Amino acid sequence: MAKITASVYTSHVPAIGAAMDLHKTHEPYWQPLFQGYEFSKRWMKEHKPDVIFLVYNDHATAFSLELIPTFAIGTAAEFAVADEGWGPRPVPKVVGHPTLASHIAQSVIQQDFDLTIVNRMDVDHGLTVPLSLMCGEQDPKAGAWPCPVIPFAVNVVQYPVPSGQRCFALGQAIRKAVESYDEDLNVQIWGTGGMSHQLQGPRAGLINAEWDKRFLDRLIAEPAELAKVPHIEYVREAGSEGIELVMWLIARGAMADVAGGPAAKVAHRFYHVPASNTAVGHLILEQNRA
Ligand code: DHB
Ligand code: FE
Repeated sequence: MAKITASVYTSHVPAIGAAMDLHKTHEPYWQPLFQGYEFSKRWMKEHKPDVIFLVYNDHATAFSLELIPTFAIGTAAEFAVADEGWGPRPVPKVVGHPTLASHIAQSVIQQDFDLTIVNRMDVDHGLTVPLSLMCGEQDPKAGAWPCPVIPFAVNVVQYPVPSGQRCFALGQAIRKAVESYDEDLNVQIWGTGGMSHQLQGPRAGLINAEWDKRFLDRLIAEPAELAKVPHIEYVREAGSEGIELVMWLIARGAMADVAGGPAAKVAHRFYHVPASNTAVGHLILEQNRA
């Protein structure tokens, strides 16, 4: 049987990818940020999963205003790295896991969540920057990411976006789907995007460190209560792009403690301001066994 063994949460700032690709990670501006992921890169090597189920948002790269799926699961064998205006990042293509992805689609749709099935899609910084942060620099020619990845795109760009409650319930359905897959697979679920930031309008540059840190506390200790936070609070307190944080509730909902199972263990927690226009938050929760 497949198992969710850990959940990982991280911001996805595009400038982080550029800093890695241009070998600027030791510059004074970037050094404290990358220092916070040193533990995580070691942890990833020691806890290498068979598959990563990666919850992220597309930024009008694969989808445009012509087609806006609320939840889209990537069932393809591979996903090309998108060109976001400066050419594709020099990182390996993303290899998928079509059989597990199809099984999750089947199970989650039968649990009454209407997923869009995507057999062809390019993936942008929302997916590649978390992979880079956790897995380190990769040679695009020689290299491959450490394991297959199932991309799961959530619309947090064009309103109406899904609620925290819906995302949290979806995470629970995803855990059931994974645990009903016959093969013994070690699956990690990642929730990405956030933390507070606003890229537009009079409040551009907004950061709310106090609210972000409380979000991390609550994500760990009282996720069901946190899931009740309405959109307006994310936008007011964490800025217009802070709404990306609802995706973290999908990953958190997939941990066993939410359904009465053993507690999750905090393996790592990190918070840093600034990275480009964004506050960076990061958490690793390991699944304790019963
Ligand atoms: C920035 C952050 C994002 O989440 C994003 O998608 C694009 C840019 C930024 O901080 O610059
Ligand atoms: Fe973003």
